Amino acid sequence: MNQLTVSHINEAVEYIRSQTSIRPEVGLIMGSGLGVLGDHMTDVTVISYHDIPHFPISTVEGHAGELLIGSLAGRAVVLMRGRFHMYEGYGPELTAFPVRVMKALGATAVVVTNAAGGIDTDFGSGDLMLITDHINLTGRNPLIGANDNELGPRFPDMSEAYSKRLRRIAIEQAAAQGFELRTGVYAGLLGPSYETPAEIRMLRTLGADAVGMSTVAEVIAARHSGMEVLGISCISNMAAGILDQPLSHTEVMETTERVKSRFLGLVLAVIPQI
Ligand code: HPA
Repeated sequence: MNQLTVSHINEAVEYIRSQTSIRPEVGLIMGSGLGVLGDHMTDVTVISYHDIPHFPISTVEGHAGELLIGSLAGRAVVLMRGRFHMYEGYGPELTAFPVRVMKALGATAVVVTNAAGGIDTDFGSGDLMLITDHINLTGRNPLIGANDNELGPRFPDMSEAYSKRLRRIAIEQAAAQGFELRTGVYAGLLGPSYETPAEIRMLRTLGADAVGMSTVAEVIAARHSGMEVLGISCISNMAAGILDQPLSHTEVMETTERVKSRFLGLVLAVIPQI
C-alpha cells in the first residue's frame, strides 16, 4: 500500500530547504558509478540521505547515498548520488519517493541514468543508449494504492514517458560531440540476480534493447507528477548469454568508469537546454 503522502514529501522538502536556498529546476538521478556528475556542481550543498525525513538509505556498493543541490552547467539542480532499488527491499513508492521530493522542490524535468545490459547485439559495452521507452516487468508500480489527486491523475498517460523534446536535444548534443548515441527500449526487472540467457531471448522478443533493475518506478512517478523525463543507459555489459562469459557487478562498475567522461560531457551539454 502507498504509505507515503504529501505530508511526508513536505517534511522532506522542508528539511532540504532549511539546508539551501537554491531552488532546483532539474532533477538528476545517477546510476551505478555515474554519481561523478556531482563533482562538477558548484555552490553545492550535500545532504546525506540519513538526514532527510522519510528518505530510505541506499545499500548498494557504488551508490553513495547523498542528495546534492547546487548549480550545474548554469542550472539549479538536485542530484541523487545513489538511488533506491526495489531489489533492496524497498517498495516501489519508496523507490520513487525522491522523485516526488524533486518535483515538490521545484524540478520540472528529471534526467534518469542507469547501467544496463545490452540486449541488442549491435550494441557494445560502453555504449550510451538514449531510452526511448520502457517495459515495466517488475510487477510493481509506485502508484498502487489510493491516488492523491494533488500529486497526479489516477491513470497517468505513459505514451510519451521519455520526452521527445529532451530526446532530440540529447541526440543533437551527442552528434555535436562526435559520437553516436544508441537508442532503444529499456526493460526494467526486479533483480537482483542477473537474467538467464533464456530471459534475455524473451526480452529481445518483447522488444527490449537493454535491461536493468532500476528506473521504471522513478519514471512512472515522474510522469504521474507531470515531469519531463530524459533517460540514458550506460551499456555496462552485454546481457546474459550474448558473450561466452559471466556477468559481474565489477564489470558494470569498470565500464561505467571507462565511459564516464563521455557520459558527463553529454549530460553537461544537455542540461542548459532542458
Ligand atoms: N542485467 C540487469 N541489470 C543490469 C545489467 C544486466 O545485464 N547490467 C547492469 N545492470
